[in-house]
Amino acid sequence: MLAKLHLIYFSPTGTTRRIVEQIALGIKARIIEHHDLTLDLSGIDTKLNDGMAIIGVPVYAGRVPEICLQRMQNLSANQIPAVIVVLYGNREFEDALVELRDFVLTKGFIPNAAAAFIGEHSYSTATHPIAANRPDHDDLNKACQFGEVITQGIKDWYQMNPPVIAGSIPYRERTPLGGISPNLIQERCTLCGTCVKACPTNVITISGCITTNVKDCILCCACVKGCPEQARVLDHPALNARREMLATHYQTRKEPSIFIGAAVENVI
Ligand SMILES: Cc1cc2nc3c(=O)[nH]c(=O)nc-3n(C[C@H](O)[C@H](O)[C@H](O)COP(=O)(O)O)c2cc1C
Repeated sequence: MLAKLHLIYFSPTGTTRRIVEQIALGIKARIIEHHDLTLDLSGIDTKLNDGMAIIGVPVYAGRVPEICLQRMQNLSANQIPAVIVVLYGNREFEDALVELRDFVLTKGFIPNAAAAFIGEHSYSTATHPIAANRPDHDDLNKACQFGEVITQGIKDWYQMNPPVIAGSIPYRERTPLGGISPNLIQERCTLCGTCVKACPTNVITISGCITTNVKDCILCCACVKGCPEQARVLDHPALNARREMLATHYQTRKEPSIFIGAAVENVI
């Protein structure tokens, strides 16, 4: 059994974390160490010298969110194996997985297994469901099986050819964020502070009322999905149009995509 597995992830609405944990369940390790970067404003500042890592991020506009790259800027590894994972909302993952691969290579990881899984879209609502309730039972099973396959290939990790991963270089242009944030429905708000605690960028403050620093909101929707009173809503004309488009054109269920190095492929 693997001695140590590092789970490194950013996951405002929890879907990336669930998939990373499920892959870990399939890999099995004596020690599983969590590095949850979601609320970690200063990011991870560590050099990993042993074990294996699973690194998971959500897809934002076909890319790795900049906040994830910032929070992993001071992460490095001494040529240890890594499984890289992106989580997307049933539209496309585009260049996110190649971007994550290139990033972790510069940090000293050997990413010979990669995957794109599907999770409920952050903009999904009851009236406009987009991959609602995913990852579901099937997704979780696939994540666990992916982990089991990786286990069988670990011994060949340093000999295998890296996988060819879907995505393009140069990566697609980033879509600028900023200027929009979820609204507050005052009558519903009980000032419980759940949104303040859930926000990965610390843009929500509470003092007699809730205020949001719109400029630095990344639209992750942790506050929307976490609010026990449904008092936070993403209700902005541009995002309503986006949600409508996604709910109309991206209803067909996508399945996880898995990319593994040649020697691991042979054990499937
Ligand atoms: C700003 C933003 C941009 C997004 N862009 C995409 C995208 O390009 N393609 C896609 O399929 N899903 C996209 N999504 C959906 C997320 O990838 C998806 O909801 C993911 O499951 C969130 O991960 P988490 O639960 O770990 O926070 C986007 C979500 C947000 C908030």
